Amino acid sequence: MEKPETEKHGGAMDEKVCLITGATSGIGKATAMGLASMGASVVMVGRDRSRGEAALAEIKEKSANASVDLMLADLSSQEQIRRLADEFKEAYPQLDVLINNAGLFRSKRITTADGLEMTFAVNHLAYFLLTKLLLGVLRASASSRIVNVSSGEQRNGTINFDDLQGEKGYTGAKAYSQSKLATVLFTYELARRLEGTGISANCLHPGGRVPVRTNFGSGVSGVFGVMVRALRPLMISPEKGAETSIYLVSSPKVEGLSGRYFVKKAEARSSDVSYDERIARRLWEVSAELTNLPVKTCNQTLPFPGRE
Ligand SMILES: NC(=O)c1ccc[n+]([C@@H]2O[C@H](COP(=O)([O-])OP(=O)(O)OC[C@H]3O[C@@H](n4cnc5c(N)ncnc54)[C@H](OP(=O)(O)O)[C@@H]3O)[C@@H](O)[C@H]2O)c1
Repeated sequence: MEKPETEKHGGAMDEKVCLITGATSGIGKATAMGLASMGASVVMVGRDRSRGEAALAEIKEKSANASVDLMLADLSSQEQIRRLADEFKEAYPQLDVLINNAGLFRSKRITTADGLEMTFAVNHLAYFLLTKLLLGVLRASASSRIVNVSSGEQRNGTINFDDLQGEKGYTGAKAYSQSKLATVLFTYELARRLEGTGISANCLHPGGRVPVRTNFGSGVSGVFGVMVRALRPLMISPEKGAETSIYLVSSPKVEGLSGRYFVKKAEARSSDVSYDERIARRLWEVSAELTNLPVKTCNQTLPFPGRE
């Protein structure tokens, strides 16, 4: 089968190794498909073996690219994130692209095996921990790119340091918008800490004015669930939703750009609070504590993995 033209997305990915979380459905799966079609070696991360294997087989067949791999990890478990990072590092000496994409919405507060609130754990702490654990292999590549999938909902978010885990007052919307603001704050802080290393870090909203038609929110009850189901016919396709992620990791146009927020492949302004460096530093420190990473190392300007 003929490979799709790489120019379609703006850059050849033949030599690149890309790891994508949440690659079993929706935007992540479409991103994995897009990158595999551009010739990249793609490592899909999923939490469910049968969903993962089905997506893997489909992507291999449709992209005509055999260099697609599946690794399993439930990203709500820090132990599994650590095992995933080890498994990846054993199999691959370098990483050119890391896309933290997995995400969820929970109307009711539930906790993870680590005792953390689920939305904050999966949508923020998993991005933080996986990125930190993979910085060594990201540095092994001449220039590598980290992309974190946020949401337009970051605009409605506040970081409530007195109740990050939603123990005092939980609503799904509050937890989700806080986690997506955390993604933006984390990306900007990461970009500052990675300055001069050749690793870029950017984040994005995958939709536009309308959401992307994925499994997101499909099993959710309450107002959010009703809204998601009502909007479904108007939503854009997962392929369209994956365009900005693919653009950010493949296009020469964004080479060297770091610490930015994108919507529809264009740089956009995120919420005012997302630019607050004190909040970003504090969130970094709390995230390091909650993921049992040495806070001191995380505070260093350049988080060289060898220093731990
Ligand atoms: N859809 C939109 O309009 C929209 C808008 C703004 C932002 N986003 C963001 O886009 C990202 C992708 O969402 P989507 O719309 O493509 O939704 P989706 O179809 O539900 O995909 C979410 C992915 O995350 C994975 N995931 C969820 N919890 C996980 C866990 N504990 N461990 C490992 N993987 C887990 C899911 O795995 P399973 O297949 O096993 O469930 C799935 O692959 C999310 O970060 C979301 O917040 C989406």
